[in-house]
Amino acid sequence: MIDDVDRIMDVMAAAFDPQWGEAWNRNQVSSSLAVPTTHYRLIGADGKPPEEGAMAAGFSMVRAAPGEEELLLIGVKPDNRGGGIGWRLLELFADDARKRGAERIFLEMRENNPAISLYHSFGFNQIGRRPRYYKMPDGNRIDAITYGMNL
Ligand SMILES: CC(C)(COP(=O)(O)OP(=O)(O)OC[C@H]1O[C@@H](n2cnc3c(N)ncnc32)[C@H](O)[C@@H]1OP(=O)(O)O)[C@@H](O)C(=O)NCCC(=O)NCCS
Repeated sequence: MIDDVDRIMDVMAAAFDPQWGEAWNRNQVSSSLAVPTTHYRLIGADGKPPEEGAMAAGFSMVRAAPGEEELLLIGVKPDNRGGGIGWRLLELFADDARKRGAERIFLEMRENNPAISLYHSFGFNQIGRRPRYYKMPDGNRIDAITYGMNL
């Protein structure tokens, strides 16, 4: 029987290009989900939660702190992109965070990630930059950009 960690890892393997070294391994995902302030969402190709026994098209993982929440990871399988699943995951992130009492949401990403246009259209604004923050598998470093949005 597949569980939600299987579903997340299945999307992770398809969605994250190894050249950036951003994918988490199973232990990282499981230990993060064991913390009560970590939340996640899974979506099937039809935009609904996956049926029992079915894999997912996308997922998000979020960390909650008092008054604010941070998007840890968002991924959609390449075959399912461009159809609004990423957008829906961001909507769920914002709605869930609001319901849990957050007033602000954040995310941090490498500077050259094309997901930037999705975040901008959704309403996130750049609030910070950490120079050379991410180290890539090839040893090069790249800036991290922090985005924030008031709920
Ligand atoms: C980033 C990622 C999650 C986006 O997933 P997606 O399902 O393709 O996203 P969507 O289809 O919802 O959005 C695609 C576009 O449609 C737009 N869009 C989608 N739904 C929309 C809506 N209801 N209203 C307005 N615009 C919408 C988005 O703004 C976006 O515009 P763009 O083409 O200019 O980027 C996906 O590309 C991915 O998994 N990337 C690899 C992993 C990664 O880098 N994750 C981010 C760092 S953790």
